[in-house]
Amino acid sequence: MKTIEIKPDIFWVGAIDWAVRDFHGYVTPNGTTYNNYLIMDEQITLLDTVKHDFSYVSINNIKHLTDPSKISNLVVNHIEPDHASSIDKIMALAPDATIYITEKGKKGLDRHFDTSKWKFRIVKTGDTLNTGKYTLLFIETPMLHWPDSMMTYVREAKLLISQDAFGQHLATTARFDDEFIECASRSELDDAVVDYYANILMPFGELIKTKIGEIQKLGIKIDMIAPDHGIIWRREPGSIIQKYLDLANGQAALRITIIYDTMWHSTELMTLFIMQGIKDEGVDCKVLKLRATPMSVAIKEFWKSRGCLIGSPTLNNILFPSAAEFLTHLRGLRPKKRIMGAFGSCGWGGGAIKEAYEEFKRIKLETFEPGLQIIYKPSVEDNKNCYEFGRAFATKIKEYHATFK
Ligand code: FEO
Repeated sequence: MKTIEIKPDIFWVGAIDWAVRDFHGYVTPNGTTYNNYLIMDEQITLLDTVKHDFSYVSINNIKHLTDPSKISNLVVNHIEPDHASSIDKIMALAPDATIYITEKGKKGLDRHFDTSKWKFRIVKTGDTLNTGKYTLLFIETPMLHWPDSMMTYVREAKLLISQDAFGQHLATTARFDDEFIECASRSELDDAVVDYYANILMPFGELIKTKIGEIQKLGIKIDMIAPDHGIIWRREPGSIIQKYLDLANGQAALRITIIYDTMWHSTELMTLFIMQGIKDEGVDCKVLKLRATPMSVAIKEFWKSRGCLIGSPTLNNILFPSAAEFLTHLRGLRPKKRIMGAFGSCGWGGGAIKEAYEEFKRIKLETFEPGLQIIYKPSVEDNKNCYEFGRAFATKIKEYHATFK
């Protein structure tokens, strides 16, 4: 593959994974990339490696530029295997290289490899590495999104190697934002950013704001952000920083996502009238059936909307399993600034709606109450109630959304 010079003597030497569709349970219909970067300076320095399946691709890219044994330094910004599982291959080729890594990164690496023969320099925020004409400044970003995570800023190039942050799961021939927008579209790129944020970074919104604030206080100038997945931000690096701040502040559209499942179509029939009520109240509505929708897509669509309704039949006095799974997944992501409601059909007894609201409270999201439960199949009267439930929920969402202006 062709290496790409992203700044003078700084090269993308990564790999494009066109085929991956399941990234530890997160669906990646558009594949992804594992980006790593080689600085061809007096001290040749590699920033990150790639997923082990693609080590030969990245090593081949490096070989187009230099003999890998000449690598003096390996910066490990993050030890998750999609970036760190080729380290042993690199160290076999460059055994004298020094690994620059955070303290927690070193501890984690010791659990993955026999590191006893490797040289390390443990770094923290503010530490630097001079490679010749370039100075690398290390910035720890613990819990964004692992304890070991850090970013590396190449001062003279005004380049921030941002690791997972600002990434997207997109396999594409485009390496830069402007190239991608030209060959695909801005909205496809925005969707990939939100998808990635919702499924990976949603729990860390407050940390993201704090860390961006700290980076801004360092007074560093950034004219390119190079993440370890997807395209590199060179046209408007400030726009992706602002986008992250907006997402961390709970940015959402005036929209409602209905996420439902159904046993004998009764809860499904309810969605039709609820959706119509929402639409007639002037609010956009997206409807997703859980059994037909990957979990990570449901999470993304949840996050895009200011309000969410969960439709679940009652099964054995509790939530339908797919709805319970979605809510458990959502709880781990610690969403904020959304309003939840629930509806569904039951044969007798009920229980799903009650359990849904208990789960909303565990997630600490605001709720629209009471939920709506019907018995067996919706009657004509039930249809009217569903319609009015949709209208009332949409009215509440409009009022709530207006408080964010
Ligand atoms: Fe792309 Fe946290 O790994």
